[in-house]
Amino acid sequence: MRVVKTTSELREALNKSADLSIRRVLVPTMGALHQGHLELIKRARQDAGASGTVMVSIFVNPIQFDRANDLDAYPRPIESDLEKCVAAGVDVVFLPDASSMYHADRSVTVTESLLSSGLCGASRPGHFDGVCTVVLKLILLTGCHSAVFGEKDFQQLAIIRRMVRDLDVPVEILPCPTVRESDGLAMSSRNVRLNHEERADAPRIQRALVTAAERRDAAEMLAAARADIESSPLARIDYLLLVDAETLQPTADLKRPAILAAAVFYGDVRLIDHVMIAGC
Ligand code: PAJ
Repeated sequence: MRVVKTTSELREALNKSADLSIRRVLVPTMGALHQGHLELIKRARQDAGASGTVMVSIFVNPIQFDRANDLDAYPRPIESDLEKCVAAGVDVVFLPDASSMYHADRSVTVTESLLSSGLCGASRPGHFDGVCTVVLKLILLTGCHSAVFGEKDFQQLAIIRRMVRDLDVPVEILPCPTVRESDGLAMSSRNVRLNHEERADAPRIQRALVTAAERRDAAEMLAAARADIESSPLARIDYLLLVDAETLQPTADLKRPAILAAAVFYGDVRLIDHVMIAGC
């Protein structure tokens, strides 16, 4: 496995192996790798084939953080991340620092303006501009044929697909299902920051969403999920919304596919989860 730390080293490494027929697949991450990331890497290998190149980027992207304490507290266990990448059969790890990724006077940002307006975009101003900008840069830098993203961050996945469509970015976006702990909590690099009581309580988010999703009335669905989550003294709802699966705008129409989505704070740790609701 090769570890590359700057954009110029990456260009050099990729130019050397510039056989364009070899499929390159990218898995963008911010590190603190867990089983969810490892499933994305497996998906990448399936797509790349045995002779293709699987690349993982590990970069805690400062421009997508809206809260300085979240950026500072973001876990960075780089040695164990690299071990996990070796064990997972990754070919290249791109591990830049912020000064290698961003010019001090950078002045271009990629903005998606429709799908980003609600949900996490409303709670975290500028977050998806930071995500789009870094993902486009990573796609261009690596020259990847495809890139793998988790459905856990369904808004992020939808926005990246829109960016690729609207800007004609020559890359295929491959989705991967959400990986959960055995008690149902969606795996997240932020889970390690929960204390014992918070960690024990957090599976209630998924339980509340799944139970509420059985209701056939939108207002009842939202009220049931809210009551369930708010019955915990540890959980504080950031948002709880029913949105159209395509436009991501709030909806009460259960005839079309929809998504019941929540962001919940435990202390200053913010967790997100959702369930898909098939239209009837
Ligand atoms: P990060 O949170 O590290 O996630 C990297 C990728 O792993 C994302 O595509 C995310 O959806 C996926 N992922 C995280 N938890 C998952 C789970 N439990 N099951 C399945 N997939 C999961 O998302 C980011 O980083 C950043 O915004 C990034 C795209 C790297 C841009 O900086």
